[in-house]
Order: sequence, then structure tokens, then C-alpha cells
Amino acid sequence: MKERSLLLVIFAALALTVGGYLAATQLHLMPAEASTRAVEVDRLFQILLGITAFIFLLVEGALLYAALRFRRKVGDDTDAVPVHGNNALEILWTVIPAAVVVFVGVYSVQVLQNIERPLDNSIVVEVVGRQFSWEFRYPADDVTSGELHLPVGQPVLFQISSEDVIHSFWVPAFRAKRDATPGQISELRITPSEVGTFPIRCAELCGPGHAGMINQVVVEEPQDFEAWLQAAKQGANDPVAVFAQFGCSACHTLTAAGATGLVGPNLDGIGARAGTRVPGLSASDYLDQSITDPGAFVVPGFTDGLMPRDFKTRLSDAQLQALIEFLLKQ
Ligand code: CUA
Repeated sequence: MKERSLLLVIFAALALTVGGYLAATQLHLMPAEASTRAVEVDRLFQILLGITAFIFLLVEGALLYAALRFRRKVGDDTDAVPVHGNNALEILWTVIPAAVVVFVGVYSVQVLQNIERPLDNSIVVEVVGRQFSWEFRYPADDVTSGELHLPVGQPVLFQISSEDVIHSFWVPAFRAKRDATPGQISELRITPSEVGTFPIRCAELCGPGHAGMINQVVVEEPQDFEAWLQAAKQGANDPVAVFAQFGCSACHTLTAAGATGLVGPNLDGIGARAGTRVPGLSASDYLDQSITDPGAFVVPGFTDGLMPRDFKTRLSDAQLQALIEFLLKQ
């Protein structure tokens, strides 16, 4: 009778584990598997979950059975039967968990080696986190972009860093996450395996704008990626693109760039005003100073310290020149 009940518990645990696994896979609870490592990470996760679920249900099932079946009868005040251990049982529940732990350890190391293996045809993409946006650089093509584009099937080596505090570069569909730490370059390897657009998140609380530090990765066919890269290269010095890419539109209003920000001065008509702001500064010198050294002169009514101080290094000379010429015409 007892053995039959125990068999029933084992059978119920097995049935619940398999049923739960099937339900979970049919309901698509996980994000898309958009990289080769996602497949391996998910398989490891499912095996771990399967083992854990089965053992949990088995132990809890046996506990429930024992608590109900052997509960004290009303009026029975006698002591329980003294038990002095059972060697067979002790060996069994030492050997089985040890085997499970060794299996999980060996398998995890294998998965880790597979997904981190350096591939020599990788393209390098530098990922820079800053409060509160991501920037992506393709050093081989001298392209900087506010949006991440990748060719499908092409191994990528991300070199991740930060310019201020610790952020965490996370692409759930790639099953990939790595901290972006100031003063340090962290590497992360993935191979996108599915064409589509997938979310990028910051997974480290990095300040009041943390929740807004969202972006997306566009995985596309190699020829589409190449076309995007060429367009990005040619558009690198386009002032309207520069205005948007470097976040100017978040703070300034400028009709010609479709910008409606209200934090900084309105730039409509700036070309006519620029030469009259600071005595001795020509219009183009004033614009140069306002972009590269914004604290030198602050337009009355606006707060100093809000405009980033690093455009001298972030903008190329050509970009700065294009921007000044563009603003002079406004
Ligand atoms: Cu950056 Cu959170």
C-alpha cells in the first residue's frame, strides 16, 4: 500500500513536470530566440527547470502524503516509533544529488565555452552607455549610430563601456547581458540568427532616466545592413542627422530639424542673432563656442550646466563645421 502511494506521488510529479513543460513551451513565455546562443542558453535553462521542478514536486508530494497518511489519531498520546536511519536511503539521496550537480556543472561549462568562443570573422561594435542613452560605433567603417543594426548570421564582438556610471547592456532576445562599466571595456559575443527588431534595455539602475534608457536592435539581411551602413557613412556629416543623433533635439526647438525641445534656447532665427550675442565674437565663433564650451556664455533665462560639455571630443571637425554652417542659415 505504502509503495503504491509513493509510486503514485512519483508518477504525479513526473506528469506535472512534463505537463508544465509542454504548457510553458506552447504559451511562448520566453522572448524570441534571436541569436545562436539563445538556443543553447534556453536548452540549459529548460533542463535545469525540468530537474528542479521534478525534485520539488517529488519532495513536496512525499511530504504532503506523509503529513496526511501518518497524522496523529485523536486520543493517541503514544510516542512515535524511534528510527535509527537507513543506510540505503542515505546513500541514495547523497548519490543522486551529487550526480545531478556534476551533470549540471559539466553541461553549464560546455554551454559557456560554446557561446563565448571567439570567432575570427567577427565584426566589432563598440557599445557606449551614458545617462541616458546608448551609442553604437562601427570602428571598421567609422560610423557612429544611435540605433544598433546587425547583419543576420554574422558573429559580432561587442566592446561595451560607459562614460559615466555603471549601465548594463541587455538584449533579452539574444539572451545576452553585460555591464557597461566606466574605465573598462567588457566583451560580449553573439551571432544574430533571426531577422527582426528586438528591444535593448539598460539592466542596471543608473539614475532618474534609467527606465527610459531603451533602444532597439535591427537584425537584417547582409545586403540591407550594408546599405544602411553606407547611408549612415554618407549621412555622418548631415547637420539634421547630427542634430538628432547627438540629442540636440531633446532640448532645443529648431523647425528645420523638426525639433521642439524647450530646455535650451529656441534656435529658430539663430543665424541672425548669433553675431550680436557676445561683443567681439563673430556669428560662427559664437556658435562654435556655444556648442563646444556652453558654459562660457549662457543665454539669460536658461540654466548653466544642462548642456553636455563633451561635444568638442564627440563631434568630428567636419560634423561641427556642418552644424555651424547649418545654424548660420536658420
Ligand atoms: Cu543606464 Cu540604467
